Amino acid sequence: MAQGWVSYSTITTEAPAAVDGRPLELADLRKLARRGVRAVTRAARVDDRVTFASLLAAHLGPAAVGAEVAEETWPGYEHVNVQAGLDAWLAADGRTGEVVGVLGFRHQHFGLAELLTMTDLHPHMPRPGNAATVNLPCGPGGATRACLRCALVLVEDGGVRTALLVRGPEPESGLQDMSVQALSIDPVAARVVLREIRADANVHNVFRRQVLSFDSEVFGQGQTLLQFHRRQQLDRTGLVLHAGTMAEIERQVVDVARHKGRLLAAGQHLKRGLLLYGPPGVGKTHTVRYLIGQLAETTVVQLSGSALPLIAEACSVARALQPAMIVVEDVDLIAEDRGMYPGQHPLLFQLLNEMDGLAEDADVVFLLTTNRADLLEPALAARPGRVDQAVELTLPDRGARRALFDLYRGSLRMDLTGLDDVLDRTDGVTASFLKELIRRAALFAADRTAEGADLDVSAADLTSALDELLDTRNAMTRTLLGAGRTG
Ligand SMILES: Nc1ncnc2c1ncn2[C@@H]1O[C@H](COP(=O)(O)OP(=O)(O)O)[C@@H](O)[C@H]1O
Ligand SMILES: [Mg+2]
Repeated sequence: MAQGWVSYSTITTEAPAAVDGRPLELADLRKLARRGVRAVTRAARVDDRVTFASLLAAHLGPAAVGAEVAEETWPGYEHVNVQAGLDAWLAADGRTGEVVGVLGFRHQHFGLAELLTMTDLHPHMPRPGNAATVNLPCGPGGATRACLRCALVLVEDGGVRTALLVRGPEPESGLQDMSVQALSIDPVAARVVLREIRADANVHNVFRRQVLSFDSEVFGQGQTLLQFHRRQQLDRTGLVLHAGTMAEIERQVVDVARHKGRLLAAGQHLKRGLLLYGPPGVGKTHTVRYLIGQLAETTVVQLSGSALPLIAEACSVARALQPAMIVVEDVDLIAEDRGMYPGQHPLLFQLLNEMDGLAEDADVVFLLTTNRADLLEPALAARPGRVDQAVELTLPDRGARRALFDLYRGSLRMDLTGLDDVLDRTDGVTASFLKELIRRAALFAADRTAEGADLDVSAADLTSALDELLDTRNAMTRTLLGAGRTG
């Protein structure tokens, strides 16, 4: 009856754990599974019906009944990190772990102490069975790690035996946290085991140096949704900003981290807040993208508007995984959210409080963006010191428009005799407008020439494209391109 109860192999599809410094292999998994079967059969000999009480008695001996149960908890979103830590911990030399799933765990509140007393098998009560897992994201590109939902792990470590009860969050049952309980004849051993698992969960934290976004589930039980993103590399030449503007931003974000040691030694704080503001389409998001690409070693947590209530969680991740950057884009949207009275910004104040609550020496950057600095200003002025630098991004001036024109033109052949005129007539437009202008000019050139010929944009193509975009009939298009006052 015991066959197939233990399915440790299902929880290590990512195989990030190691045995003797080498990755866990299928053979190891089979071995672990065999050991599990042995444990169950061993117990079965004692009592024909294997219950949690008989399993625990077989593993720990009768003295377990009076022993103290130790427990560690983590926020629910740490489930995948606790699994990573547990896998690594179990893979240590001389340590073996046998996993026995807990069936019927849903909506049941129980711990190891209760399992010890479960001498009966009842269909509505937790009972031994196959371990169920859930695949949780653990990296960009859809990588996942199978994580135990609820399972007993019977550990043997150089003659010392411990039983662990691993339980993931179950918002549907009102369990927000992830927990691991430990039971050993020696209460000190149980606490040491949990401390080590916590330390390993930190060492093997899968969020470290990743770009994450936090979102809250709109339907459902308020579970935190986490997504991993690939870190895009944006070339410096792909971002057209005034040299002074770029220097201000980099000084605050990159240079503080670079001179961290000396700044700290001189009693200076590392925590910093930067606000990028300016009209839509001037490159605030583009700049954020560039900075994320620059900070390859930094853990980035992005919060969208609906996820701002998760700011405390984001700060907790940032604090644990320094150096870190928390990005809140379009912070004005959340600032207005949920205010009972005009001018009240509970979420914004929560954000500012969290910024304040972080230790001064935390290497954490808060990067905020907004189109509506005017809305934020009173709130920020009322809580000085959280944002230590506000950088304005403006619509491109003539020089910047020229640079953007060159950037978007790339290798496209073009007669540039009319460029001065184009630059004169595009005062007040955004980068997106110029991008669209060049595409339209290319389209005119394509229409004019035979299929198969290389595109060669004439001065007339360029002028026609600009005329069309500036035509009154294209007012809506201009608005969508963020063209502002032009036309
Ligand atoms: N300063 C800039 N340098 C290069 N490209 C830019 C710049 N500003 C805007 N763009 C282009 O326009 C697009 C929209 O800009 P975005 O960064 O989303 O504006 P914002 O966040 O300020 O509203 C970007 O994806 C990029 O292609
Ligand atoms: Mg933006």
